[in-house]
Amino acid sequence: MAVRTIEWIDNKIVLLDQTLLPTEEKYLIIDSIDVLAEAIKSLRVRGAPAIGVAAAMGVALAGKLFHGQSREAFNEDVLKAIDLLQKTRPTAVNLFWALDRMQNILKAHSSNSIADIQKILIDEAMKIFEEDRQICRLMGKNGADLLDHSVTILTHCNAGALATADYGTALAVVYAAHEQGKKVKVFSDETRPLLQGARLTAWELQKSNIDVTVICDNMAASVMKSGLIDCVIVGADRIAANGDVANKIGTYGLAILAQAHKIPFYVAAPLSTIDMSISHGDQIPIEMRASQEITHGFGKQTVPDGVTVYNPAFDVTPNTLITAIVTEAGVVRTPFQKVFQEIMPSS
Ligand code: MRU
Repeated sequence: MAVRTIEWIDNKIVLLDQTLLPTEEKYLIIDSIDVLAEAIKSLRVRGAPAIGVAAAMGVALAGKLFHGQSREAFNEDVLKAIDLLQKTRPTAVNLFWALDRMQNILKAHSSNSIADIQKILIDEAMKIFEEDRQICRLMGKNGADLLDHSVTILTHCNAGALATADYGTALAVVYAAHEQGKKVKVFSDETRPLLQGARLTAWELQKSNIDVTVICDNMAASVMKSGLIDCVIVGADRIAANGDVANKIGTYGLAILAQAHKIPFYVAAPLSTIDMSISHGDQIPIEMRASQEITHGFGKQTVPDGVTVYNPAFDVTPNTLITAIVTEAGVVRTPFQKVFQEIMPSS
Protein backbone atom coordinates (compact mmCIF):
# COMPACT_ATOMS: atom_id res chain seq x y z
CA MET A 1 0.00 0.00 0.00
CA ALA A 2 1.35 3.44 -0.93
CA VAL A 3 0.04 4.95 2.31
CA ARG A 4 1.76 4.36 5.66
CA THR A 5 -0.73 5.47 8.30
CA ILE A 6 0.74 4.08 11.50
CA GLU A 7 3.92 2.19 12.33
CA TRP A 8 6.02 1.13 15.29
CA ILE A 9 9.63 2.09 14.67
CA ASP A 10 12.48 2.03 17.22
CA ASN A 11 10.04 1.78 20.15
CA LYS A 12 8.13 4.85 19.00
CA ILE A 13 4.80 5.33 17.21
CA VAL A 14 5.08 6.94 13.79
CA LEU A 15 1.86 8.52 12.51
CA LEU A 16 0.93 10.37 9.35
CA ASP A 17 -0.65 13.62 10.63
CA GLN A 18 -4.03 13.46 8.88
CA THR A 19 -5.05 16.96 9.92
CA LEU A 20 -2.50 18.31 7.40
CA LEU A 21 -3.70 16.31 4.40
CA PRO A 22 -4.09 16.70 1.48
CA THR A 23 -1.50 19.46 1.21
CA GLU A 24 1.20 18.26 3.59
CA GLU A 25 2.55 14.75 4.25
CA LYS A 26 4.14 14.97 7.67
CA TYR A 27 4.95 12.08 9.98
CA LEU A 28 4.82 12.51 13.75
CA ILE A 29 7.19 10.54 15.92
CA ILE A 30 5.33 9.88 19.16
CA ASP A 31 7.15 8.95 22.33
CA SER A 32 4.71 10.14 24.99
CA ILE A 33 1.22 8.96 25.98
CA ASP A 34 -0.04 12.54 26.39
CA VAL A 35 1.03 13.37 22.84
CA LEU A 36 -0.65 10.20 21.55
CA ALA A 37 -3.89 11.01 23.41
CA GLU A 38 -3.87 14.49 21.86
CA ALA A 39 -3.22 12.98 18.40
CA ILE A 40 -6.26 10.70 18.74
CA LYS A 41 -8.51 13.46 20.12
CA SER A 42 -7.59 15.91 17.41
CA LEU A 43 -7.90 13.30 14.61
CA ARG A 44 -4.24 13.27 13.60
CA VAL A 45 -4.87 9.53 13.62
CA ARG A 46 -8.49 8.55 13.09
CA GLY A 47 -10.81 5.87 11.75
CA ALA A 48 -11.97 3.09 14.06
CA PRO A 49 -9.37 0.34 13.31
CA ALA A 50 -6.45 2.81 13.20
CA ILE A 51 -7.50 4.26 16.56
CA GLY A 52 -7.48 0.70 17.96
CA VAL A 53 -3.99 0.01 16.59
CA ALA A 54 -2.72 3.39 17.87
CA ALA A 55 -4.13 2.69 21.33
CA ALA A 56 -2.53 -0.78 21.46
CA MET A 57 0.83 0.74 20.46
CA GLY A 58 0.24 3.40 23.13
CA VAL A 59 0.02 0.71 25.80
CA ALA A 60 3.22 -0.87 24.49
CA LEU A 61 4.85 2.57 24.54
CA ALA A 62 3.74 3.18 28.14
CA GLY A 63 5.44 -0.10 29.07
CA LYS A 64 8.60 0.81 27.22
CA LEU A 65 8.73 4.26 28.86
CA PHE A 66 8.79 2.76 32.36
CA HIS A 67 12.15 3.13 34.08
CA GLY A 68 11.33 2.04 37.64
CA GLN A 69 12.13 -1.21 39.45
CA SER A 70 8.89 -2.68 40.72
CA ARG A 71 6.37 -4.63 38.67
CA GLU A 72 3.59 -3.03 40.73
CA ALA A 73 4.69 0.46 39.68
CA PHE A 74 4.96 -0.78 36.08
CA ASN A 75 1.35 -1.99 36.14
CA GLU A 76 0.23 1.33 37.65
CA ASP A 77 1.90 3.32 34.84
CA VAL A 78 0.44 1.13 32.11
CA LEU A 79 -3.05 1.21 33.64
CA LYS A 80 -2.82 5.01 33.87
CA ALA A 81 -2.00 5.13 30.16
CA ILE A 82 -4.94 2.83 29.37
CA ASP A 83 -7.23 5.09 31.38
CA LEU A 84 -6.04 8.21 29.55
CA LEU A 85 -6.40 6.60 26.12
CA GLN A 86 -9.91 5.33 26.98
CA LYS A 87 -11.01 8.93 27.46
CA THR A 88 -9.90 10.17 24.03
CA ARG A 89 -12.91 9.28 21.83
CA PRO A 90 -16.09 7.49 22.92
CA THR A 91 -17.72 6.05 19.78
CA ALA A 92 -15.27 3.78 17.94
CA VAL A 93 -15.39 0.54 19.91
CA ASN A 94 -12.08 -0.63 18.42
CA LEU A 95 -10.36 1.72 20.88
CA PHE A 96 -11.86 -0.08 23.89
CA TRP A 97 -11.49 -3.49 22.23
CA ALA A 98 -7.74 -2.94 21.73
CA LEU A 99 -7.20 -1.47 25.20
CA ASP A 100 -9.09 -4.38 26.82
CA ARG A 101 -6.98 -6.83 24.88
CA MET A 102 -3.76 -5.14 26.02
CA GLN A 103 -4.99 -4.97 29.62
CA ASN A 104 -5.82 -8.70 29.55
CA ILE A 105 -2.27 -9.44 28.38
CA LEU A 106 -0.89 -7.31 31.23
CA LYS A 107 -2.99 -9.31 33.73
CA ALA A 108 -2.25 -12.69 32.18
CA HIS A 109 1.50 -12.09 32.59
CA SER A 110 1.43 -10.59 36.07
CA SER A 111 4.35 -12.67 37.29
CA ASN A 112 6.70 -11.91 34.38
CA SER A 113 9.67 -9.58 34.80
CA ILE A 114 9.46 -5.96 33.63
CA ALA A 115 11.73 -6.68 30.65
CA ASP A 116 9.52 -9.63 29.67
CA ILE A 117 6.22 -7.82 29.92
CA GLN A 118 7.61 -4.82 28.01
CA LYS A 119 8.37 -7.16 25.11
CA ILE A 120 5.08 -9.06 25.44
CA LEU A 121 3.08 -5.81 25.20
CA ILE A 122 5.01 -4.74 22.09
CA ASP A 123 4.44 -8.17 20.53
CA GLU A 124 0.69 -7.98 21.24
CA ALA A 125 0.41 -4.48 19.72
CA MET A 126 2.24 -5.73 16.62
CA LYS A 127 -0.12 -8.71 16.49
CA ILE A 128 -3.12 -6.35 16.51
CA PHE A 129 -1.45 -4.33 13.74
CA GLU A 130 -0.70 -7.42 11.62
CA GLU A 131 -4.17 -8.88 12.18
CA ASP A 132 -5.73 -5.61 11.02
CA ARG A 133 -3.71 -5.81 7.80
CA GLN A 134 -4.94 -9.33 7.07
CA ILE A 135 -8.53 -8.46 8.02
CA CYS A 136 -8.52 -5.56 5.53
CA ARG A 137 -7.52 -7.97 2.77
CA LEU A 138 -10.26 -10.47 3.69
CA MET A 139 -12.93 -7.76 3.87
CA GLY A 140 -11.76 -6.47 0.52
CA LYS A 141 -12.13 -9.85 -1.11
CA ASN A 142 -15.49 -10.62 0.50
CA GLY A 143 -16.88 -7.23 -0.49
CA ALA A 144 -15.48 -7.21 -4.02
CA ASP A 145 -17.45 -10.40 -4.76
CA LEU A 146 -20.65 -8.33 -4.33
CA LEU A 147 -19.72 -5.93 -7.11
CA ASP A 148 -20.40 -6.11 -10.86
CA HIS A 149 -17.55 -5.82 -13.35
CA SER A 150 -18.20 -2.13 -13.84
CA VAL A 151 -19.42 -0.28 -10.79
CA THR A 152 -19.78 3.20 -9.31
CA ILE A 153 -19.69 3.39 -5.52
CA LEU A 154 -20.65 6.26 -3.25
CA THR A 155 -18.74 6.45 0.04
CA HIS A 156 -18.76 8.78 3.04
CA CYS A 157 -15.94 9.94 5.33
CA ASN A 158 -12.74 7.89 5.07
CA ALA A 159 -12.73 4.15 5.65
CA GLY A 160 -9.56 3.47 3.73
CA ALA A 161 -5.83 3.00 4.25
CA LEU A 162 -5.78 6.14 6.39
CA ALA A 163 -8.29 4.56 8.78
CA THR A 164 -6.58 1.18 9.21
CA ALA A 165 -3.19 -0.55 9.22
CA ASP A 166 -3.59 -1.64 5.60
CA TYR A 167 -6.06 -0.71 2.86
CA GLY A 168 -9.23 -0.01 4.74
CA THR A 169 -12.71 -1.40 5.23
CA ALA A 170 -15.11 0.26 2.75
CA LEU A 171 -12.18 1.23 0.53
CA ALA A 172 -10.70 -2.27 0.89
CA VAL A 173 -13.65 -3.39 -1.22
CA VAL A 174 -12.77 -0.73 -3.80
CA TYR A 175 -9.05 -1.63 -3.84
CA ALA A 176 -9.75 -5.37 -4.04
CA ALA A 177 -12.23 -4.95 -6.91
CA HIS A 178 -9.70 -2.73 -8.70
CA GLU A 179 -6.99 -5.38 -8.21
CA GLN A 180 -9.36 -7.99 -9.66
CA GLY A 181 -9.57 -5.90 -12.83
CA LYS A 182 -13.05 -4.51 -12.21
CA LYS A 183 -13.81 -1.03 -13.48
CA VAL A 184 -14.44 0.87 -10.25
CA LYS A 185 -15.39 4.51 -9.94
CA VAL A 186 -15.91 6.22 -6.59
CA PHE A 187 -17.99 9.23 -5.59
CA SER A 188 -16.76 10.57 -2.26
CA ASP A 189 -18.94 12.82 -0.10
CA GLU A 190 -16.75 15.64 1.13
CA THR A 191 -18.05 14.88 4.69
CA ARG A 192 -18.68 18.06 6.65
CA PRO A 193 -17.42 19.42 8.93
CA LEU A 194 -13.89 17.93 8.87
CA LEU A 195 -13.89 16.88 5.21
CA GLN A 196 -12.47 13.38 5.61
CA GLY A 197 -14.04 12.45 2.25
CA ALA A 198 -12.58 15.39 0.33
CA ARG A 199 -9.22 15.57 2.07
CA LEU A 200 -8.48 11.91 2.83
CA THR A 201 -10.54 9.53 0.68
CA ALA A 202 -9.86 11.53 -2.48
CA TRP A 203 -6.15 11.78 -1.56
CA GLU A 204 -5.58 8.06 -1.06
CA LEU A 205 -7.72 6.93 -4.02
CA GLN A 206 -5.95 9.35 -6.33
CA LYS A 207 -2.60 8.03 -5.08
CA SER A 208 -3.77 4.52 -6.05
CA ASN A 209 -4.99 5.64 -9.48
CA ILE A 210 -8.64 4.99 -8.71
CA ASP A 211 -11.19 7.18 -10.44
CA VAL A 212 -12.61 9.44 -7.70
CA THR A 213 -15.09 12.32 -7.84
CA VAL A 214 -15.73 14.51 -4.79
CA ILE A 215 -19.24 15.84 -4.18
CA CYS A 216 -20.65 18.05 -1.44
CA ASP A 217 -22.70 16.04 1.06
CA ASN A 218 -25.92 17.72 -0.07
CA MET A 219 -25.46 16.44 -3.65
CA ALA A 220 -25.85 12.75 -2.80
CA ALA A 221 -29.62 12.63 -3.43
CA SER A 222 -29.43 14.18 -6.86
CA VAL A 223 -26.41 12.07 -7.85
CA MET A 224 -28.36 8.93 -6.91
CA LYS A 225 -31.46 10.15 -8.77
CA SER A 226 -29.35 10.73 -11.87
CA GLY A 227 -28.59 6.99 -11.86
CA LEU A 228 -24.86 7.51 -11.32
CA ILE A 229 -24.52 5.31 -8.21
CA ASP A 230 -24.70 1.48 -8.17
CA CYS A 231 -24.16 1.04 -4.43
CA VAL A 232 -23.12 2.82 -1.26
CA ILE A 233 -20.28 1.40 0.85
CA VAL A 234 -19.30 2.94 4.20
CA GLY A 235 -17.26 1.92 7.25
CA ALA A 236 -18.43 1.76 10.87
CA ASP A 237 -17.28 2.95 14.28
CA ARG A 238 -19.48 0.63 16.30
CA ILE A 239 -22.10 -1.94 15.34
CA ALA A 240 -24.72 -2.99 17.91
CA ALA A 241 -25.70 -6.64 18.34
CA ASN A 242 -28.83 -6.08 16.23
CA GLY A 243 -26.85 -4.65 13.29
CA ASP A 244 -27.51 -0.92 13.87
CA VAL A 245 -24.41 0.95 12.69
CA ALA A 246 -22.76 4.07 14.10
CA ASN A 247 -20.63 5.82 11.52
CA LYS A 248 -19.65 9.36 10.53
CA ILE A 249 -22.47 11.90 10.77
CA GLY A 250 -24.42 11.87 7.51
CA THR A 251 -24.29 8.11 7.04
CA TYR A 252 -27.90 7.67 8.23
CA GLY A 253 -29.12 10.22 5.68
CA LEU A 254 -27.28 8.38 2.92
CA ALA A 255 -28.89 5.10 3.95
CA ILE A 256 -32.35 6.65 3.71
CA LEU A 257 -31.48 8.08 0.29
CA ALA A 258 -30.15 4.71 -0.88
CA GLN A 259 -33.38 3.00 0.15
CA ALA A 260 -35.46 5.69 -1.60
CA HIS A 261 -33.48 5.12 -4.80
CA LYS A 262 -33.38 1.30 -4.44
CA ILE A 263 -29.57 1.27 -4.24
CA PRO A 264 -27.82 -1.37 -2.06
CA PHE A 265 -26.31 0.06 1.12
CA TYR A 266 -23.27 -1.89 2.37
CA VAL A 267 -21.22 -1.46 5.54
CA ALA A 268 -17.69 -2.90 5.72
CA ALA A 269 -16.20 -3.45 9.17
CA PRO A 270 -14.02 -5.91 11.07
CA LEU A 271 -15.59 -8.10 13.79
CA SER A 272 -13.75 -5.92 16.36
CA THR A 273 -16.22 -3.13 15.46
CA ILE A 274 -19.20 -5.26 16.53
CA ASP A 275 -20.18 -4.61 20.15
CA MET A 276 -22.33 -7.53 21.31
CA SER A 277 -22.75 -5.87 24.73
CA ILE A 278 -24.94 -3.21 23.14
CA SER A 279 -28.28 -4.48 21.89
CA HIS A 280 -29.45 -1.43 19.91
CA GLY A 281 -27.84 1.50 18.15
CA ASP A 282 -29.47 4.06 20.45
CA GLN A 283 -27.17 2.81 23.25
CA ILE A 284 -24.02 3.70 21.29
CA PRO A 285 -22.29 6.75 22.82
CA ILE A 286 -22.07 9.49 20.23
CA GLU A 287 -19.11 11.86 20.40
CA MET A 288 -19.97 15.56 20.49
CA ARG A 289 -17.20 17.73 19.10
CA ALA A 290 -16.21 21.37 19.44
CA SER A 291 -18.46 23.97 17.82
CA GLN A 292 -15.38 25.62 16.26
CA GLU A 293 -15.19 22.73 13.78
CA ILE A 294 -18.37 24.20 12.27
CA THR A 295 -18.05 27.90 13.07
CA HIS A 296 -14.38 28.19 12.09
CA GLY A 297 -13.75 25.24 9.76
CA PHE A 298 -10.11 25.23 8.65
CA GLY A 299 -9.50 28.68 10.08
CA LYS A 300 -12.27 30.63 8.36
CA GLN A 301 -15.22 31.94 10.35
CA THR A 302 -18.45 30.96 8.58
CA VAL A 303 -21.02 31.38 11.39
CA PRO A 304 -21.80 34.65 13.20
CA ASP A 305 -20.31 35.01 16.69
CA GLY A 306 -22.56 33.73 19.46
CA VAL A 307 -24.71 31.40 17.30
CA THR A 308 -25.37 27.96 18.83
CA VAL A 309 -23.93 24.97 17.01
CA TYR A 310 -24.76 21.26 17.25
CA ASN A 311 -21.87 18.98 16.27
CA PRO A 312 -22.32 15.23 16.79
CA ALA A 313 -19.48 13.36 15.04
CA PHE A 314 -21.51 10.21 14.32
CA ASP A 315 -25.04 9.01 13.70
CA VAL A 316 -26.74 5.62 13.84
CA THR A 317 -28.17 3.85 10.81
CA PRO A 318 -30.90 1.33 11.71
CA ASN A 319 -30.27 -2.23 10.55
CA THR A 320 -33.42 -2.14 8.39
CA LEU A 321 -31.66 0.22 5.96
CA ILE A 322 -28.57 -1.99 5.62
CA THR A 323 -28.37 -4.47 2.74
CA ALA A 324 -25.34 -6.33 4.12
CA ILE A 325 -22.36 -5.96 6.44
CA VAL A 326 -19.03 -7.10 4.98
CA THR A 327 -16.66 -8.60 7.56
CA GLU A 328 -13.49 -10.68 7.44
CA ALA A 329 -15.66 -13.71 8.27
CA GLY A 330 -18.02 -13.19 5.34
CA VAL A 331 -20.95 -11.07 4.19
CA VAL A 332 -23.67 -10.81 6.85
CA ARG A 333 -27.30 -10.16 5.96
CA THR A 334 -30.40 -9.93 8.13
CA PRO A 335 -31.04 -11.37 10.73
CA PHE A 336 -27.76 -9.73 11.76
CA GLN A 337 -27.92 -10.66 15.43
CA LYS A 338 -28.29 -14.37 14.74
CA VAL A 339 -25.37 -14.42 12.31
CA PHE A 340 -23.19 -12.27 14.61
CA GLN A 341 -23.77 -14.80 17.40
CA GLU A 342 -22.44 -17.53 15.10
CA ILE A 343 -19.39 -15.70 13.76
CA MET A 344 -18.20 -13.58 16.70
CA PRO A 345 -15.13 -15.01 18.41
CA SER A 346 -15.97 -15.96 22.01
CA SER A 347 -13.94 -13.94 24.49
O1 MRU B 1 -14.09 10.97 13.08
P1 MRU B 1 -13.38 9.94 12.26
O2 MRU B 1 -12.66 10.50 11.08
O3 MRU B 1 -12.50 9.05 13.11
O4 MRU B 1 -14.54 9.03 11.70
C1 MRU B 1 -14.22 7.90 10.95
C2 MRU B 1 -15.39 7.18 10.41
O5 MRU B 1 -16.53 7.51 10.67
C3 MRU B 1 -15.10 5.95 9.58
O6 MRU B 1 -16.09 5.77 8.63
C4 MRU B 1 -15.07 4.73 10.50
O7 MRU B 1 -14.20 4.92 11.58
C5 MRU B 1 -14.67 3.51 9.77
S1 MRU B 1 -12.95 3.52 9.40
C6 MRU B 1 -12.51 2.10 8.66
